[in-house]
Amino acid sequence: MNKEEPAMMTDGKKTCDEKSEKFCMDIGQIRKEAAGDIKEGAVTPNYKADTKEIIDMLGEALATEIVCVLRYRKHYYAARGINSEPVAEEFLEHSNQELAHADKLAMRIRQLGGDPDLDPTTLMSRSHAHYTEATTLEGMIRENLIEERVAVETYRKMIEFIGAKDPTTRRLLEEILEQEEEHADELSDLLPQ
Ligand SMILES: [Fe+2]
Ligand SMILES: [Fe+2]
Repeated sequence: MNKEEPAMMTDGKKTCDEKSEKFCMDIGQIRKEAAGDIKEGAVTPNYKADTKEIIDMLGEALATEIVCVLRYRKHYYAARGINSEPVAEEFLEHSNQELAHADKLAMRIRQLGGDPDLDPTTLMSRSHAHYTEATTLEGMIRENLIEERVAVETYRKMIEFIGAKDPTTRRLLEEILEQEEEHADELSDLLPQ
């Protein structure tokens, strides 16, 4: 039987050496702090990020996703007129996926105590993405590919900035980044060789 002390501290009772390199938690202290500002919900005392900074960052990403939903939607309808159904369907699928990204970002903003801003009058000024129209199918693919590449870069920068400060937000952004990379890859495959 392993006689080493368990690597955990229970309420007020120390059962591990804080200076050792073993995993160690003071559950009593964690519980005490967690019971403090309970209205903060998911934002616990040891949340390492600046909540407002993260909410502002997610707000810009949310505005960006909404602009992408609209641009892809516009291209879906525009492309349908020029005998290009498979590409139009791709635009529609991407539009729906950008909307799912927007929902996830809005939910996370709520969890952090923020208020998701969906005001259309300020949407463009808060978005990283442009709302561009194009007259040809290839032009539409190019415009969307540029915006996807912008999204890939901006999500990557956000993830780097968050680091270990907020694992849940980072994981969410990583999931979105993965799909933006897929979008960029799919669009580049659609371009004429
Ligand atoms: Fe997206
Ligand atoms: Fe995308």
